[in-house]
Amino acid sequence: MNQIRRIGVLTSGGDCAGLNTVIRAVVHRAVWTYKWEVIGIMDSTEGLCFRPLRFKRLGVSDFYGPYERIGGTMLGTTNKGNPFAYAMPDGSTRDLTGDFGEGCRELGLDALIVIGGDGSMAIVSKLCAGAGVKMVGIPKTIDNDTPITEHSVGFATAREKCMNAMDDLQTTAASHHRVMILEVMGRDAGHLALHTAIAGGADVCLIPEVPYTYDGVVTKLRRMREQGADHALIVVAEGIKERGPGYEKLTFGQYLCARLKEEQEGFNPRVTILGHVQRGGAPVATDRIVANALGVHAVDILAAGKTDHMVIWQSNNVSEVPLSEIAKIGTQNVDPHGMLVNTARGLGMYIGE
Ligand code: F6P
Repeated sequence: MNQIRRIGVLTSGGDCAGLNTVIRAVVHRAVWTYKWEVIGIMDSTEGLCFRPLRFKRLGVSDFYGPYERIGGTMLGTTNKGNPFAYAMPDGSTRDLTGDFGEGCRELGLDALIVIGGDGSMAIVSKLCAGAGVKMVGIPKTIDNDTPITEHSVGFATAREKCMNAMDDLQTTAASHHRVMILEVMGRDAGHLALHTAIAGGADVCLIPEVPYTYDGVVTKLRRMREQGADHALIVVAEGIKERGPGYEKLTFGQYLCARLKEEQEGFNPRVTILGHVQRGGAPVATDRIVANALGVHAVDILAAGKTDHMVIWQSNNVSEVPLSEIAKIGTQNVDPHGMLVNTARGLGMYIGE
């Protein structure tokens, strides 16, 4: 028999577009279909670990406004702090497992829905196991590095922003005959950079998963010039670690720009670091659809008695996988021999060796 009467929902890790859409979907499904109560937990697990508890009761009327259309998260979030060894102001560390469990009991939570990346889910599922609370995860990240699922909420919107930046950079690159470098986020994965490069018509794309040479970049730019091109667009992923000596404090995009400037071949490079705008703004339609489908499905599998699963989008359908499988795979990087890398090469883009 299904014992669930009241669930919590929280957002964890870096924010992105579409989080409010997921929260709304969870509340709608839980309230309309199952008559459950929903409690929004503030600032990820912090709302349950510290006193006073920070939470808000959520009903469908909370979404009569524009929440599903706006970025950020109405519940707040954090991407810092390890609840098993939390850094206290006095310099000591504290295991917050007990505080979390008590928080769940005080609020009468039977289950928790965690909207986060694979790292957040692993942490919260351990906390929930200690508290005897069921848990289901919903993947979100602009990095798109959560394994198995084909979509994580927030990626599509970030990609759109990056592509729009490429469109804006192209006109100024052409006007001033410059090489424009766009550095995008993605942590250690190159998904956002690769998608941006293809959608945004880049000439060069550098990502952590494919080794490149500096000479390879310069050769491509020289060839383009020989063929009459007077400007070029380069996309780089923030996650590339390599910097030459003396450049250690620069981001990868800044480093590449500095080297191209030193080359004195008239490449006239400039770098744009897009930064946190990639995480903001109204979710695009794909993110809204994925957010709604995953939100509804997360509630459904809880109702069916599942716990410690993450809902996924695969082949135009939703399903779920045990969190242990996600943990086994870890971060999902770009396949250097995959279809999109081949597509980029097929376009004549330089994407490494
Ligand atoms: O994981 C999402 C992300 O935006 C990464 O792409 C980026 O490296 C990181 O978070 C930035 O984190 P912060 O908001 O702490 O600067």
